[in-house]
Amino acid sequence: MKHIISINDFKKEEIDEIVNGGAEMIPYVNKKTLPPAAVLKDKPKVCLLFLEPSTRTLGSYEEAARLLGWPTRIVSGPEATSLMKKESFANTIRMFATQGAEILIIRSKEEGTARFAAEILEKSGFNNISIQNAGDGANQHPSQTFLDRLTILQTLGRLKNFTFGFVGDLKHSRTVHSLISSFTPEDKIQFKLVSCQETRLSPRYKRGLNILESESLNILRDCDVVYVTRIQEERFSDPLELERVKGRYKITKDVLDGWKKEVKIMHPMPYVDEISAEIRSDPRVIIDKQAWYGIPTRMNLLLWGNEHRFEKTLIPKMPELKKEIIKEAEIDQYLTSRKKEEKYFRPIRNGTVLDHLPFGTGDKIKKCLQTNKIFKQNNVIHNIERIPSQKLGIKDILVLENVFIPEHLFGLISFIAPQITFNILKDNKIRKIKAIVPEEISGVNSLPRCPNNLCITNYDPEGITKFKILQFPKSGENFLLRCNHCEREFTREEIIKII
Ligand code: NCD
Repeated sequence: MKHIISINDFKKEEIDEIVNGGAEMIPYVNKKTLPPAAVLKDKPKVCLLFLEPSTRTLGSYEEAARLLGWPTRIVSGPEATSLMKKESFANTIRMFATQGAEILIIRSKEEGTARFAAEILEKSGFNNISIQNAGDGANQHPSQTFLDRLTILQTLGRLKNFTFGFVGDLKHSRTVHSLISSFTPEDKIQFKLVSCQETRLSPRYKRGLNILESESLNILRDCDVVYVTRIQEERFSDPLELERVKGRYKITKDVLDGWKKEVKIMHPMPYVDEISAEIRSDPRVIIDKQAWYGIPTRMNLLLWGNEHRFEKTLIPKMPELKKEIIKEAEIDQYLTSRKKEEKYFRPIRNGTVLDHLPFGTGDKIKKCLQTNKIFKQNNVIHNIERIPSQKLGIKDILVLENVFIPEHLFGLISFIAPQITFNILKDNKIRKIKAIVPEEISGVNSLPRCPNNLCITNYDPEGITKFKILQFPKSGENFLLRCNHCEREFTREEIIKII
């Protein structure tokens, strides 16, 4: 793989390989000698684009690049870029590429930026750049996961069979999201999560894992490792909610002394007040060592990026549409057999009739078609609402005279209205078609939007949403979809509500 975007893109073996690669860099950092793989005629240009504050991630990538002897460009803070002049993120990224970036490390407050950057570069023909995600909003922080895993491996000697506590803002901490996602049920880890209601970990990170949750620090007594996190103040939209959770958990000497004797306390840092000053130098608190492992880990990530950056990662094409023609007839014959429906609309002889639309979806489909510029000015479009229906109770019908919908939109429309039939009337024939909702829905021209306001696709004019369907509805269930960029999950209702 050429980019480091999300821990979810990596197989277990690849994660292990990268962590071990980091361990191999330790002697080179200690002795300040050049690893043989870094000796190159053509040294890659490392660019660090940090649009959120950073001390450790930025500093350790910089130190890693320095130890490799590779040229580095650092851009820290959005105010150092033309983003402040309202330039788009896509254009900013393209400019870094034009100016020679070969490994481009990005941190941003928006989510999905690293994946979006990789797509934009590929579309723009920049095929030799490795993108590395140094934190995208509350979503992912994969390089931190590699260094956290290296820390655990070096300290405990294993990454399996232990009791692993997490405390603090588990809702917004990208370090926690990435790290927990790197484990599988086979690792036999007992997770213990301590947070308040407002800062609980989303269920999407918990699938299959053995997890005990509580609001009390007491459950952490038997942990081998406890990972403490800061309340991510900058990610709270409600100041009152922030006030309720601030200062809630503090690891003091008393707390620590009540825990397992050889417990190790980790923290990605920075910390505010969640680790009390009296334990700062306690040998159980291994946060300085943990931060130090960032250097060998990121040396390895830079080498890895340089080795893989020429790989081709063609953006996968949308899966082919599966459709079924359920009826084909002469228009005249068909219309005589359907006389009773004429009271709802004047039958057309050329164009498309979208039938069996759940009430309220007719307008949404019309909007999607409009955004896709399917209609010409003089097209006659009718959305007939609230027609009695056997299947749906009431339904909408969209009558599009002289309009034919391109097939790449059938999947999206079928997702908005899963019972839909496409009636195509042309050359005195009617064809009734049902399309199967594909496994991926793309927001052509960004409709449907991602319901996450922080998703980069809602910010950049070149953002194209893509949702993977994780769950098709069985009885009593809804569609469950994951945004390809910010990785958040949504139901069908949440997505179509904002069309
Ligand atoms: C973390 C981050 O930026 O997500 N810091 C880091 O990279 N080591 C944690 C935080 O800001 O709380």
